[in-house]
Formats: sequence, structure tokens, C-alpha cells
Amino acid sequence: MSGEARRTTVKTRTDPQEQEQEQEQEQEQVTGTGTAPAAEVIGALGIQPAAVEVHDVHKWYGAHHVLDGVELTVRPGEVTVVLGPSGSGKSTLLRVINHLEKPEIGHVSLNGELIGVRRHGERLKELGERVILGQRSRIGFVFQNFNLFPHLTVLDNVAAAPVATGKLSRPEARQLARDLLARVGLADKSSAYPRQLSGGQQQRVAIARALALRPGVILFDEPTSALDPELVGEVLAVIKDLARSGTTLVIVTHEIGFAREIADRVVFMDGGRIVEQGPPAQVLDHPQQERTRDFLSKVL
Ligand SMILES: Nc1ncnc2c1ncn2[C@@H]1O[C@H](COP(=O)(O)OP(=O)(O)O)[C@@H](O)[C@H]1O
Ligand SMILES: [Mg+2]
Repeated sequence: MSGEARRTTVKTRTDPQEQEQEQEQEQEQVTGTGTAPAAEVIGALGIQPAAVEVHDVHKWYGAHHVLDGVELTVRPGEVTVVLGPSGSGKSTLLRVINHLEKPEIGHVSLNGELIGVRRHGERLKELGERVILGQRSRIGFVFQNFNLFPHLTVLDNVAAAPVATGKLSRPEARQLARDLLARVGLADKSSAYPRQLSGGQQQRVAIARALALRPGVILFDEPTSALDPELVGEVLAVIKDLARSGTTLVIVTHEIGFAREIADRVVFMDGGRIVEQGPPAQVLDHPQQERTRDFLSKVL
């Protein structure tokens, strides 16, 4: 995670007045998060499911038009599964949502708040790095390769971010981490290091870590693709539990059966575009588009 976050360091040239505004905004961001008691956090996890809106997003890598006018609305508590062939832009879409990648055109908002940018007259202007980090803490991200901190225990992997962002005191964060680890079935692994765990266990720690910041939405990028087949089920079970608890989830996966079971909506992408979307029964069982049918015939 840290490597990806570092790459997005943004330099924006601003005049003094704008800088002041930006500092004010940063101040707001820092003080606005408050400190929630661990007990309340644990209640129903204290998560307020957020709405995500992706509006006319275009992204190029050189001449390669990787996202070509993507339009996506995810309602609070909705579970969206994104399907599509390799290279269709699924990971890039997730990375645009939490502003790890900047779209050249279009924007993303979380509960109506622009992510990574602010309006400046007709144009969108990049926000300061600290504000972006604050926004990003409300968007959980679970990677294919877990990305746990190898030098930290499981407990500290989960407790680190709430402390670093000033959301919880250290004892509160550790209590929350213990509760989250219990929730993903790893109460007995708190003092282990990532290398001592199976892939399935590591991914469950990564999910607990994402939850620790009480994000409004959690993005999953092929969370089970790196796992041995017999470990896939335990990770899907944890995600299913989250889906049932009303968390907003956007999941890139090739697990079609899982999508059918938990998705409110299935989105099929190809060539940087959303080709088709709808309830699983529609997109998976009665796809309207040839490209969707073709893809499903290969993965089903
Ligand atoms: N950082 C990058 N630089 C250049 N091209 C990239 C970069 N990231 C992704 N791409 C290209 O963008 C396209 C979409 O990639 P990606 O979003 O990873 O697709 P998917 O997740 O659906 O497999 C691919 O052709 C990929 O090679
Ligand atoms: Mg990908």
C-alpha cells in the first residue's frame, strides 16, 4: 500500500490565497475526523456506507486510452462486482476511485464530495497531498497481493493506520484491531508476522486492516486471484459477511458464482468501457452484448 501511495505525490502550483484555502481545508480534514471510542467503532463497525460516483472518466497511458468515458454510480451499501478481460481497465478504474491514478477527464465523488480535486471556476484543481490522504482513508483498498507490512505483527498491521491518521489512540486502535481480527477469524494470530500466515489468512488480515479506518467504501482488486484454490473460500466468506452487513463494496473478481450470490449489480468492462451493467441475473444469465456473452462463455 505504502509504495502505491508514495507514487501519487502531487505537486500543485498555487498562489498564496489558494494555499491558504487549501490549508484551511486540510485543517478541516484533520480536525473533522474526531476520535471515536473503540466500543462505538465496533458496534456495527461504525461504518457509514458511502455512495460512489464515477463521472465520465477518461484515462490515458501515453496513447493508450485505458478508461474511455466510464460512468458508474454505486449507492450506499450496494455491492458492485466488476468483471472483464485482462487489460480492460478494471484495476485502473479502482485506482482512479481512490485517486491513486488521476483521470485526465472526468471525476469521482464520495457522498457527493470530489475526490482528489476541487472545483476552481470551470476547472478541477488537484488537492494538497494531506487532504488527498485524508480522503483516501475513507476508501478501503484490498490488493491481490495483500501488501501487508512484513516487519509488523498482524495486530500492528491492522492498528497502524488509525493511529497514524490520528483517528484513534494506540490502545483504542489495538483493541479495535483485536476485535476486527476476531471478526475475520484470526483472533489467535495477532502476534504472528505476515510471513507466518497462509495467503488466505494474510488476505483476511488485509481486509481487517482496510476496515480499521471505517471506510465508506472498500475496493477489492481480485482479492482471491493470488490464492491457492482451497484458500479462496475463507476470503470470500469474509467479503460475503461484509456485503451482508451493508458496507459499500466494489469488487473486481473472476469468481462468477460469488458475483451471482452477493452482487447487487454486475458491471462488465471491455476496452476501457462499461459495456453492460445490471443485476447479476440479467448480466450473467441474459447478457445483452456479444462481448459479455463471449467473456462469460470463457470464464463460466
Ligand atoms: N502504469 C501504467 N502504465 C502504462 N500502462 C498501464 C499502466 N497500468 C495499466 N496499464 C495498461 O492499461 C490497461 C488496463 O490495465 P488494468 O487497469 O490493469 O486492466 P485490468 O485490471 O482490467 O487487467 C492495460 O493495457 C495495461 O497494460
Ligand atoms: Mg487488474
